[in-house]
Amino acid sequence: MTSLFDPVKAGDIQLANRIAMAPLTRNRSPGAIPTAMAIEYYSQRASAGLIVTEATAISHQGQGYADVPGIWSPQQVVAWKKVTDAVHAKGGKIVIQLWHVGRVSHDSLQPGGKSPVAPSAIVAKTKTYLINDGVGSFAETSMPRALELAELPGIVEDYRRAARNAIDAGFDGVEVHSANGYLLDQFLRSGSNHRTDAYGGSIENRARLMVEVVNAIVKEIGAGRTGIRLSPVTPANGASDPHPQPLFDYVMKQLAPLNLAFIHIIEGATGGARDYQQGDTPFDYAGLRNNYRAAGGKALWMVNNGYDRALAEKAVDADADIVAFGKLFIANPDLPARLKQHGPYNEPDKTTIYGGGAKGDTDYPALGG
Ligand SMILES: Cc1cc2nc3c(=O)[nH]c(=O)nc-3n(C[C@H](O)[C@H](O)[C@H](O)COP(=O)(O)O)c2cc1C
Repeated sequence: MTSLFDPVKAGDIQLANRIAMAPLTRNRSPGAIPTAMAIEYYSQRASAGLIVTEATAISHQGQGYADVPGIWSPQQVVAWKKVTDAVHAKGGKIVIQLWHVGRVSHDSLQPGGKSPVAPSAIVAKTKTYLINDGVGSFAETSMPRALELAELPGIVEDYRRAARNAIDAGFDGVEVHSANGYLLDQFLRSGSNHRTDAYGGSIENRARLMVEVVNAIVKEIGAGRTGIRLSPVTPANGASDPHPQPLFDYVMKQLAPLNLAFIHIIEGATGGARDYQQGDTPFDYAGLRNNYRAAGGKALWMVNNGYDRALAEKAVDADADIVAFGKLFIANPDLPARLKQHGPYNEPDKTTIYGGGAKGDTDYPALGG
């Protein structure tokens, strides 16, 4: 029987256990540069088999929220290097989640105050988070403009450069954020992609940008250091598609030959119902994985959304390789030790999740602390 606490290798990355810290945006990086607080926050959580960082913008255009970090400039690389050094000093492993928000942004966060970009000029109908004069507030996302065909190679290049920067910053690898209604997910789904060129219409066309991005990153840093996050049915940020199964089965066929380190699947609505469905039939996650394996895919299978210890143990004993925990890691820096002894668990303070200082970030006690 496989346990959550058994070691495993994800591509080139040796993990001490099968417990991952899911990516968690915390809005504490003013000027898009992680601070000393990030060094402490992530090193406190180094007992996770794998840390996936908070979503991190690949470019200024990829920004959609106040005070989220980036990985496009030399200063950001220097700041992240201190984080990866601290995690490695404690024996942990850490990959960075590479993010372009697409239409989930606000003019005020974009270069020159311009419109955010998207596959098509369709507003996300969701909210983003702004901080003005130190005060945080939620605001409607702005109307995006459709990306020109000629701009798409530049987006792929921004991902490639971000992946190179990540390795220079000492990360063990990257997770491509292709979930939760952000840019790559916007291209994948018919609700947000109304293009009539080679990047819209058919499933093959809608998946094209994501496939190009993953291939460019694999070429740059190696498949053994590359993972991807997908959320086949989530409605997050206005994501919608009535036929997710054939879409994501096609995505699996494209990813299978690449030999990625891991595939990270959010089951259901992110942070919500695990049995959430888009379209007429429940999504078949086992079928998705079986199709991936049948196509020769060998990446580790990481699952997420609403897992507790019992559900996670069941999953790794069946067919998942790694379980990612989100909210539990906010308030429990030593989550693996707590899972091992069946708790107790600290409760997160809802008022200090997005933005702010050390309170609610680095001050949650470890067991015996
Ligand atoms: C505060 C917060 C921030 C999040 N930030 C991100 C993010 O940056 N990238 C991402 O892919 N998902 C993000 N998520 C989703 C989580 O990674 C995870 O999918 C979700 O919380 C469900 O897992 P859980 O039930 O273990 O918390 C965030 C969730 C929360 C609660």
